[in-house]
Amino acid sequence: MLELHNLYFTVPDGEESGGGLRNIIDGIDFTFDDGKFYVITGPNGSGKTTLAKLIMGINPVSSGDILFNGQNISKLTITERSKAGIAYSFQQPARFKGITFRDLLAVATGVEEESKLLEILGRVGICPRAFLDKEVDARLSGGEIKKIELATTIAANPKLAIYDEPDTGIDLWTIGPMVSLLKKELAENRATTIVVSHNKAFLEAADVVMIINSGKIVYSGNLEGAMPLLDDLSVCTYRNSCEGDGDAGCYR
Ligand SMILES: Nc1ncnc2c1ncn2[C@@H]1O[C@H](COP(=O)(O)OP(=O)(O)O)[C@@H](O)[C@H]1O
Ligand SMILES: [Mg+2]
Repeated sequence: MLELHNLYFTVPDGEESGGGLRNIIDGIDFTFDDGKFYVITGPNGSGKTTLAKLIMGINPVSSGDILFNGQNISKLTITERSKAGIAYSFQQPARFKGITFRDLLAVATGVEEESKLLEILGRVGICPRAFLDKEVDARLSGGEIKKIELATTIAANPKLAIYDEPDTGIDLWTIGPMVSLLKKELAENRATTIVVSHNKAFLEAADVVMIINSGKIVYSGNLEGAMPLLDDLSVCTYRNSCEGDGDAGCYR
């Protein structure tokens, strides 16, 4: 169970406001239950990535507490949180010249056995033998790099997996299988899964849809109940598939 208590992330508001402060995350209270699939959505700039980073410890909490299975993890480092069973998949994964998938997976999972590494790659739908010794560098497509990022997160067998827009750069036809994969991992591990996404396929797969606006949770519940608010916020229009602007499948 992951509990957020009165959570804030506050930054200086820039020169023009005369040195004021801005709450990017603005007093969030929420409990995530074990074994559920949460999908967080909301307008651009509403604080979704910031919230995900606070949970992983990539951003420091300004005030409030984060409890994971009863332990206060608010002050723990990323490594300590990772040891506690939390894994994070970046919206924009890093690329590394000279580092191969084999190296990256081995570091992420502690596994070096080739058959195991091939199996992990196979699970995320990339051809294992063709990719194992490829470099994780600028020559890869956005979709390929996202898949390897998913592989490292899944392979760590986390108790809590956080995926920030895992569908970015992924071809539309792969999104369905990606949703199934994350749900299957969840079912096998009884982990909690938090996905930040606007994608219809993810929202439809959610046990709980959460909407964030201006750093606050403005809705949590089923998708049906979320629809009017999503329309209001112009996050998503379920009825408008946005085809033609490269955003098909999005709820915007
Ligand atoms: N460290 C930071 N310092 C100042 N502003 C930040 C910082 N991190 C995020 N922001 C701002 O907070 C807002 C929310 O960002 P983000 O969480 O990335 O939004 P989302 O993922 O919902 O699109 C944005 O306006 C962003 O520019
Ligand atoms: Mg974001």
